[in-house]
Amino acid sequence: MISNPTNLPLWSILQDEYERIKDVHMRDMFEQDPERFEKFSIKFNDILFDFSKNRIESETLKLLINLAEQCNVGEWRDHMFAGDPINHTEGRAVQHAALRQRPGKRAFANGEEISQEIEEELQRVKALAESIRTRQWRGATNQPITDVVNIGIGGSHLGPLMVTEALRPYAIHDLKVHYVNNIDENHINNTLEALNPETTLFIIASKSFTTQDTLVNAHTAREWLLNRIENESDLHHHLVAVSANMEAAQAFGVAPENVFKMWDWVGGRYSLWSAIGLSIVISIGAENFDALLDGAYEVDQHFRTAPLAENIPVLMALIGIWYNNFFNSESIVILPYDQNMHRFPAYLQQADMESNGKCRDRQGNHVDYQTGPILFGEIGIASQHAFYQLLHQGTKLVPADMLVPISNQRCIARHHRALMSNIFAQAEALMLGKNEDEVTAELKAEGMSAEEIEKLLPYKLFPGNRPTNTFVFYTLDPKTLGSLIAMYEHKIFVQGIIWNLNSFDQWGVELGKKLANEILTELNTGEEVDSHDCSTNGLINYYLRTRPEKS
Ligand code: F6P
Repeated sequence: MISNPTNLPLWSILQDEYERIKDVHMRDMFEQDPERFEKFSIKFNDILFDFSKNRIESETLKLLINLAEQCNVGEWRDHMFAGDPINHTEGRAVQHAALRQRPGKRAFANGEEISQEIEEELQRVKALAESIRTRQWRGATNQPITDVVNIGIGGSHLGPLMVTEALRPYAIHDLKVHYVNNIDENHINNTLEALNPETTLFIIASKSFTTQDTLVNAHTAREWLLNRIENESDLHHHLVAVSANMEAAQAFGVAPENVFKMWDWVGGRYSLWSAIGLSIVISIGAENFDALLDGAYEVDQHFRTAPLAENIPVLMALIGIWYNNFFNSESIVILPYDQNMHRFPAYLQQADMESNGKCRDRQGNHVDYQTGPILFGEIGIASQHAFYQLLHQGTKLVPADMLVPISNQRCIARHHRALMSNIFAQAEALMLGKNEDEVTAELKAEGMSAEEIEKLLPYKLFPGNRPTNTFVFYTLDPKTLGSLIAMYEHKIFVQGIIWNLNSFDQWGVELGKKLANEILTELNTGEEVDSHDCSTNGLINYYLRTRPEKS
């Protein structure tokens, strides 16, 4: 069992490789090797993964693959798929991959077979979705459902939201799915103000069914329903729940037959494949949801069987570690160019940063090396007018992932060619940069005098040598999206193994929740406080003194 990866002799060899390559410009790498694109790109179904615009050479990659081997990535991967309790601080298996197993395949969690209950719950989810989509499911006043509101947060929100948005072209038309996660009452009020309680169904999505944000919104939803429907006995027409805590869901007042099960061996941020994906199935239908599962399943098989050197999630992970731990970059940016992928970066923020944003290793020691990066991102085109200045000329190295479909449903040439030209150009510009000769020639051609050029030249220089991975896929269909998500899930897994972390617990979210509950009690009493530091006391007391009476 490898504990601290930096103690491996290989780590120093990688540091030597960094010293050798750190001042080599990718421009020169491409000039010296016209086969670079062929060498450093992989086609997986309809997805082309181009990782040639990275600061690596074949030797670098060999060393990084060795690192994955010496950290036993393959063995850990097999433990995960076998359902062993690799989430050791909670004694749990990590089996989100089992949710997309093909029917008939057997899966286990902590030695228990789980395949049948997974299939049964999936059939229940599909049946409910179908009855809503075909207007068989009726509200308390016998009207069909026109609006579904998913109330959840974190993995009970971001995954379903991201997928539903990304697959908008596949969504049913006469049924709208909404997502509410913020405890700020504006979120649920803004959502409900245009809806009709008689034709609205709420999904209370919460693995623990104890999350304050979700429960506060759930109570507001319940009141909103009862204002119109009046009889509590009719709530079952408008209220379903998804949880691993069936008792709490039923105690809240969700009819037992309306509670959909999820399990402790599925982490929240990995749960969109479970009944947490109910809103997705309602939106895109069972067939498209199966395609989403299929896409992920095929990546699971690729991840389990492809040699590490041709293994996309492994390569994504190793390239990320190369910059994070050797180039000391502290962030990565996700740049989807497809508008419907606008929530993809936010989804990955939780998936990546809640998994690997940790400073304690699997043995409980404080790590003495960098672990999870700061992940941010936005639609690429919008980002070009927001933070690309920093990406091109800032002092920080920010490795980028760019993602784009070759074709979309409408494929209006005027739009799509412009979109494609931008993603290709930006990746090229980040890699190439612009040197003195090029800037001088450009300014001369614009008719500038030597003196003007001398003044302006420094600001027009682009260092370049800024790395990007580019994912080009035929179209953003359910199967392709499922594959892309699974690639990132397994990338996160591999990085966690190499950093010797448990990527599947999240103790770091507990303290804030605990303190919030204590302060809420103080706010409810309304008495000025002196139980905290002077800043927190000051803020609380200022709020108590200035808040409107009724709030
Ligand atoms: O952010 C902490 C967290 O526990 C996430 O891991 C989880 O996805 C989210 O809160 C919501 O939890 P639940 O689904 O139990 O309401």
